[in-house]
Amino acid sequence: MELDKTYWNTRYLEQNTPWDIGFVSPPIKEYVDVIQDKNLRVLIPGAGNAYEAVYLHQLGFEQVFVCDWAEEALVHLHKVAPAFPASHLICKDFFELEGQFDLVLEQTFFCAIAPALRSSYVDKMSSLLVSGGTLAGLLFASHFEKPGPPFGGDAAEYESLFSSQFVINRLSVAKNSILPRANNELFFELFRK
Ligand SMILES: C[S@@+](CC[C@H](N)C(=O)[O-])C[C@H]1O[C@@H](n2cnc3c(N)ncnc32)[C@H](O)[C@@H]1O
Repeated sequence: MELDKTYWNTRYLEQNTPWDIGFVSPPIKEYVDVIQDKNLRVLIPGAGNAYEAVYLHQLGFEQVFVCDWAEEALVHLHKVAPAFPASHLICKDFFELEGQFDLVLEQTFFCAIAPALRSSYVDKMSSLLVSGGTLAGLLFASHFEKPGPPFGGDAAEYESLFSSQFVINRLSVAKNSILPRANNELFFELFRK
């Protein structure tokens, strides 16, 4: 099975999206609620229905960008959140995205890509973030028995993946995950070196 854009777009067309929790993930909400600087350029890659992006925009963040290569997800997002700027919906392969951001938020994108692409994910995040920029969000805390996606991982693996290009400020079990993910999500905050 190839995890290409047709695969993901079809999942949205068939409404086969069990990863979609329907609201802003609580640990991410808690994190963004205390950010004062509303001018930050924020990227949410593999955002799907992008509840986090819409929430940030409602909070007054004006430089929030969504990247997803599944057109159906972005078309739907535009329908349900027409106030979110259409020009900030980027239908593109994340690995071909260009730009500079201060903050990237991770929510079930890393676990959706093939594990072989994880080091490219780290490189790409590093190139998209300004020096000192932040990559934050959630990663699964364990491996799954069933073949992915989602593909799991563990803290030791993440530390070894990210530490050459990022300072690991936080990587610990999230306290307020949704019930089905309780104790199986790590909240992380990394600063680009
Ligand atoms: C598991 S879903 C998560 C969606 C959303 N973050 C959520 O939590 O509901 C993974 C998303 O990543 C997107 N995706 C996967 N690989 C991508 C890539 N290379 N470039 C852009 N989007 C990608 C898929 O289209 C899908 O919307």
